[in-house]
Amino acid sequence: MRGFAHRQRMQQMGLRREDVLERPIVAIVNTWSDLSPCHAHLRERAEAVKRGVLMAGGMPFELPAMSLGEVMVKPTTMLYRNFLAMETEELLRSLPIDGAVLLGGCDKTTPGMLMGAISMGVPAIFCPAGPMLNDRHRGRQVGAGTHTRVFWDEMQAGRVGAEEWVHLESRMTRSPGTCNTMGTASTMTALVEALGLALPGSTSIPAMDAAHPRMAADCGERIVRMIWDDLTPSKILTRGSFLNAAAVHMALGGSTNAAVHVIAMARRAGIEFTLADLDAMGRRVPVLANLFPSGEGLMEDFYFAGGLPALMQRIRAHLALDELTVRGQSLRAQVDAAEVIDAEVIRPLDRPVSHEPALAVLRGNLAPEGAVIKPSAALPALMRHRGRALVFDSQPQMLAAMADEALDCDEHTVLVLRNAGPVGAPGMPEWGNLPIPRKLLARGVRDMLRLSDARMSGTHYGTCVLHISPESAVGGPLALVRTGDEIEIDVPQRTLQHCVGEDELARRRAEWTAPVSAYRRGWTRLYQDHVTQAHEGCDLDFLADGAPTPEPDIY
Ligand code: FES
Repeated sequence: MRGFAHRQRMQQMGLRREDVLERPIVAIVNTWSDLSPCHAHLRERAEAVKRGVLMAGGMPFELPAMSLGEVMVKPTTMLYRNFLAMETEELLRSLPIDGAVLLGGCDKTTPGMLMGAISMGVPAIFCPAGPMLNDRHRGRQVGAGTHTRVFWDEMQAGRVGAEEWVHLESRMTRSPGTCNTMGTASTMTALVEALGLALPGSTSIPAMDAAHPRMAADCGERIVRMIWDDLTPSKILTRGSFLNAAAVHMALGGSTNAAVHVIAMARRAGIEFTLADLDAMGRRVPVLANLFPSGEGLMEDFYFAGGLPALMQRIRAHLALDELTVRGQSLRAQVDAAEVIDAEVIRPLDRPVSHEPALAVLRGNLAPEGAVIKPSAALPALMRHRGRALVFDSQPQMLAAMADEALDCDEHTVLVLRNAGPVGAPGMPEWGNLPIPRKLLARGVRDMLRLSDARMSGTHYGTCVLHISPESAVGGPLALVRTGDEIEIDVPQRTLQHCVGEDELARRRAEWTAPVSAYRRGWTRLYQDHVTQAHEGCDLDFLADGAPTPEPDIY
């Protein structure tokens, strides 16, 4: 704490002069809110962090930041990930802060806070919200997200009645905490641990376990030491640590959303990391974590099986073990200390959950800058497929069509949704898991090839090609597809082709006009003007690189 004015105002809050003199000042950036069910416990956890900070000789101050409760925020939390990143950076820049504990976990809160902290460059540690408890329905484990989709399709097909649906509605999300499948929240928190920015094992601890507040106190204690040691993100993050995150992503069967988030974080850190790195890792590391949607377990099972350190031990041959973590030690120390308790949940390399990768990157005339698919949660029969496109220009148009019993389609049709990318939607919502037409559901069809420039919830599954880049709203090739065109996918060869001649495509390109945005003001206008494409991480172009401009020290 520097200067007369700061000391004076601290005393105005009832603190003693010596409370802030010569002590590290720790920000607890908290994404708690009354409308963020996954973070409902983070107010209490902030108290545990404070306890740790005080015990270690620091002085904690809690700072609220935008809470992005995934299901509550419209049109999509992805629209606000960069807002939270900017807010985190500016909080840490504008206030007299020496280091930060970041409390988050629901999907975009994790990359948002980390992107801001990486840019700001002060010591920072991520304190994850932790997954919610497992639940059961009629003797069967059910988890958030994945089963919502399973049961919704069954209801559309007439196999789940209204009474059962009402019961399920209250049962699939059992406690505070993040989604308990290997969705985006569990993926991103694990990847942050693999990057070295969270305490070893911390991201696997269930939100309601007594170990969770103890972990939060550890975060508070640890950040004080990190401040004295000046252990900043730039000393932890390397190309090796990002490749470690990619290896963990594949072994977990992680969410496709991680592609945009990890690339955005790497760019903030000034580290070269691209879709090609993810695809290359997917060819080497199979899915080992037996968790929904690629497998059958939930996050509590993963915790009891040994958690992330145990999974990292399984893939240690694919990890750069000399990379540093917030502990101030190499990754090797935590991997050596780990133990796999349940080999059915954390499988060995020679007995993977899936031989298909958690993520593959496709290219071709339909996706010149790349598109992603999750083969481990897709239908094997559709990994090589050619079919007739059925194109939708908006989500409402698509949803209305899906209920139409006369819709012209069959199980070989390729469903296409466009204008759903970063600029087009805007915010690249999770519309990429296009619903199966009702008339096909009734016939027992549960998966089809689906393409879009949108994202898909990490808890969902299906043969969905996502993040097609560049997107249709900026003139990407998806804009030129018409109903009836043939589309061909070959996942083993990593190709995605629009089977229409170049002359015809040139004619359509000349006729194409960009959609007019309805957004004239505010954050969304700024976002649409500056957001980058999916293969670049969807950051704002003026935030992606470089360090903040330092303020002059006037005190
Ligand atoms: Fe918050 Fe899934 S809705 S983690």
